[in-house]
Amino acid sequence: MTNEPMLPAPADPAPGGDPVTVIGLGLMGQALAGAFLAAGHPTTVWNRTAAKAGSLVERGAQLAASARAAVQASPLVIVCVTDATATREILEPLADALEGRVVVNLTSGTSTDARAVAAWAAEQGTPYLHGAIMAAPPAIGTTDAVLVYSGAQPAFDVHESALRRLSPNTIHLGADPGLASLYEMAMLAVMWGVLDGFLHAAALLGTAQVAVTSFTPFMNRTIAGMADWTDAYAEQIDTGSYPGDDSTIDTHLAAMAHLLDESASLGISTELPAFVQRLAERAVAEGRGGDSYAAMIDQFRKPAR
Ligand SMILES: NC(=O)c1ccc[n+]([C@@H]2O[C@H](COP(=O)([O-])OP(=O)(O)OC[C@H]3O[C@@H](n4cnc5c(N)ncnc54)[C@H](OP(=O)(O)O)[C@@H]3O)[C@@H](O)[C@H]2O)c1
Repeated sequence: MTNEPMLPAPADPAPGGDPVTVIGLGLMGQALAGAFLAAGHPTTVWNRTAAKAGSLVERGAQLAASARAAVQASPLVIVCVTDATATREILEPLADALEGRVVVNLTSGTSTDARAVAAWAAEQGTPYLHGAIMAAPPAIGTTDAVLVYSGAQPAFDVHESALRRLSPNTIHLGADPGLASLYEMAMLAVMWGVLDGFLHAAALLGTAQVAVTSFTPFMNRTIAGMADWTDAYAEQIDTGSYPGDDSTIDTHLAAMAHLLDESASLGISTELPAFVQRLAERAVAEGRGGDSYAAMIDQFRKPAR
C-alpha cells in the first residue's frame, strides 16, 4: 500500500520502566516478554507449560510459580494466549488478585469475545484494554509492528510508554473494548482477500508454466495502486454515495465472466470468481449496475444467502 496509516510519531522512551507481567509464552507471548526485557522492564512471566520460559529466564525474566503470583508481581498484566476461553480459564480464578492492576489482553478473537472479557473485568473493577497485534513475532519491538488497543482510556494513558515498547506504532482506538478485535478481523478480511486473489492468479499462470515470480512485480504495482481506489471507495462508503465515474459494477460484471470462463476452460477452481460474480449479479439485480464497485458493500452487509 502506498498510503501509510496515520500513526503517532515513534516514541524514544528511556531504558527501564515499570514492572510488567506477561501471561502466555507461545510464539507471540515470548516475543512480547522479550521486547519488555530488551527495554529494561522488570518482567515476570508465566506459562501453563513452564519450560517455554527458559530463554526468557536466561535473559533476566522472573518465572512466576503460578498465574496468581504472576498477576501479583506487576501493575500491568499482559495476556497473550490462544483464545478467549483460555483467557477466562486463567483470569477468572484470579479476580481478587487483579485488584489495582490493569489487564491488557492481546489474545486474538472476535469483538464479541473481547467485549465479554471486558464486561467480566468491569464486574471485578479491573481496568481492561483489549489489543490486537498486526504483526508476526519477529516484528515485535520494531516499527514493523502495529498494535491497536481499545477499552479503558485512562489505563492506556498510564501504561502507554510500556506498551510502546512492543512497537512505536501503538494506537488507542476508543473506549469500546471490541474495537481492536474488530480492526483485527477487518485486517484478516483484507489479508485473505488479497492472498486468495493472488493464489487464484498463480493457479491461472501455472496452466502455462509461468513462474509466479515473473508475475509478482506486475501484481505488486497493482496492489500498491489500489490504495488510491480504496481511499476513494472508503470515502464513498462513509458518505453512502457511489458515483460510477471510474468504472461501474456493470463493467466489472462483464470482466468477471471472462475470469470465470478462463478459469473453467483451463480446468482450475472457479469458486472464487463465481462467488464474486454472484455478488455483482445481485447488486445489478438491485439496480446498482451503474454505481461504482464500492456499492458492492451492500452485498457484504447482509448475512450469506
Ligand atoms: N504468532 C503470530 O504470528 C500472531 C500474530 C498476531 C496475533 N497473534 C495472537 O497471539 C495469541 C498467541 O499466539 P501464539 O502465536 O503465541 O500462539 P501459540 O504459540 O500457539 O501459544 C498459545 C499460548 O496459549 C497458551 N494456552 C492455550 N490454552 C491455554 C489454556 N487453556 N490455559 C493456559 N494457557 C493456554 C499456551 O500455553 P502452553 O504453552 O502451555 O500450550 C501458549 O502459551 C493468539 O491469540 C494469536 O492469534 C499471534
